[in-house]
Amino acid sequence: MSTPDVTSADWEALRTAATEAMHKAYVPYSKFPVGAAAIADDGRIISGCNVENASYGVTLCAECSLTSALIMSGGGRLVAFTCVDGHGNTLMPCGRCRQLLYEHSAPGMLLETVSGVKTIDEVLPDAFGPRQLDDYAASGT
Ligand code: THU
Repeated sequence: MSTPDVTSADWEALRTAATEAMHKAYVPYSKFPVGAAAIADDGRIISGCNVENASYGVTLCAECSLTSALIMSGGGRLVAFTCVDGHGNTLMPCGRCRQLLYEHSAPGMLLETVSGVKTIDEVLPDAFGPRQLDDYAASGT
């Protein structure tokens, strides 16, 4: 599988975008702001922040906001991703958000993680995704 070409300048730009997004977070309940940013396969940078709710369970993670921004700005595939907490430190996407990112990932998508840069397949091994639905549909009744 091809590995996307992501430079150190790209990672720096992503961390900057994620930190800017983090400052927009709506977090009156947890007081734990999160910002996420990604490069799409056409080169544009998209970002998102967490948006909490008085009904705690319907809180939107920063990755939800980022995914919506991807679709609303024209779609495409995610090539590289980073996420920061309120101190600007790298944050791992939660399990649900790894699934969200997987759906829109380019092959070999890279994520900045607490243990270095990893691929989407490393952070969500043996993932369930669109291919399983396609394979099932193609296998007939
Ligand atoms: N949060 C995210 O935005 N993304 C993650 O991947 C982990 C958790 C948010 C949800 C909630 O607003 C706050 O962090 C505390 O859980």
